[in-house]
Amino acid sequence: MKTLQFKNPSVQGELKVPGDKSISHRSIMFGAISEGVTKVTGFLKGDDCLSTIDCFRKMGVNITEKNDEILIEGKGFSGLQEPNEILYTGNSGTTTRLLLGILAGLPFHSVVTGDESIAKRPMNRVTDPLKQMGAKIDGRDHGNLTPLSVRGGTLKPFHYKLPVASAQLKSALILAGLQSEGETVIVEPEKTRDHTEKMIRHFGGEISREENRIKVSGNQAFQAKDVHVPGDISSAAFFLTAAAITSGSNLLLKDVGINETRTGIIDVLKEMQANVSVSQTNNDEEPLGDISMTSSGLKSCEIGGELIPRLIDEIPIIALLATQADGQTVIRDAEELKVKETNRIDAVVEELKKLGADIHATDDGMIINGPVKLHGGQADSRGDHRIGMMLAVASLITEDAVHVENPECISVSYPSFFEDLSYVTNQVRN
Ligand code: S3P
Repeated sequence: MKTLQFKNPSVQGELKVPGDKSISHRSIMFGAISEGVTKVTGFLKGDDCLSTIDCFRKMGVNITEKNDEILIEGKGFSGLQEPNEILYTGNSGTTTRLLLGILAGLPFHSVVTGDESIAKRPMNRVTDPLKQMGAKIDGRDHGNLTPLSVRGGTLKPFHYKLPVASAQLKSALILAGLQSEGETVIVEPEKTRDHTEKMIRHFGGEISREENRIKVSGNQAFQAKDVHVPGDISSAAFFLTAAAITSGSNLLLKDVGINETRTGIIDVLKEMQANVSVSQTNNDEEPLGDISMTSSGLKSCEIGGELIPRLIDEIPIIALLATQADGQTVIRDAEELKVKETNRIDAVVEELKKLGADIHATDDGMIINGPVKLHGGQADSRGDHRIGMMLAVASLITEDAVHVENPECISVSYPSFFEDLSYVTNQVRN
């Protein structure tokens, strides 16, 4: 349990949030399936990304750390070896699903399993199409739930319309398509984060997109290339919210990834009339920017449709933001929240209610009325890092302490979160 109590804090100064989780995972995977040594800087050393490293080491890939850089000695897809241990993916959905896409094309047997949260998350969205491509996969509930046993091999090219807007599913199928014999076509219902596609090009491969139709040809080989991981906008979102809801705040977040498939939170902050501004600092495939935020009054807004995949991980913290906004905020089209690390519709609504929020669950999202003065109390992360961080940020605006149960899970994506929170709340105003 972590007890948090602040006396009228404001959020000040400059902060660099840790590396992007999605890009960190992919840097290890692409480093491993390329030929040569890839150096990764800015890598997120959170538990999820460490699970990815661990799985690839178990497949014979030499991965070392030197002066905060990660070195991956890749030998191509064919250099990956049959693991003699279970591939344990911890709490990480991205590791589990993308790994399945890689394993599907490899001529050996492996077993993939994760923690108790992973054990409840649906894998048939990935295993069903991979089976149709030719992989042999089995597990509990007809291959829907971990532990999953995979015997990979020759894959047929495949045309597939994704039933859900999921970058994890899309990426798993792309990774399988890269190993198939021919052209794989994937159609997504809405555009999701495109870090996998950008990685393919970065490592010298090809992939094309026309509207929501993605084409990738098989038998591609990749060459090692260094990767710099930008700061994670999903982690930045907690501090942007902290600055938005506390008075007298003035925060600058440096070197944050601002890939447009991830910046839905910025659009929402602007829509809510927050004082946020972004200045892009490079023009790389994965663009970087500095984001500044000062406190202001907030207005409610409506969030749904194509915006949802661009801010899916930010919905817990947006719900907190909405408790401080004037009017009714409606979040819809977000059923996917039910199959995240926890059921995030229930978790957000029930935990924020414990602190006095006026919030209700709907079938596909939630409705929040604001502004409401939140109070302290006891609330539970439920083992979900983003719920834990949202509750910690809520404590900035309660008079009495917030006791956050199960705060350890925050190390999944932001091991230095509490240090950074106390740093920005202890900065002297300029
Ligand atoms: C991720 C995609 C998202 C997101 C997750 C990371 C990724 O999941 O929620 O935290 O790295 O591809 P879905 O694509 O399944 O929505």
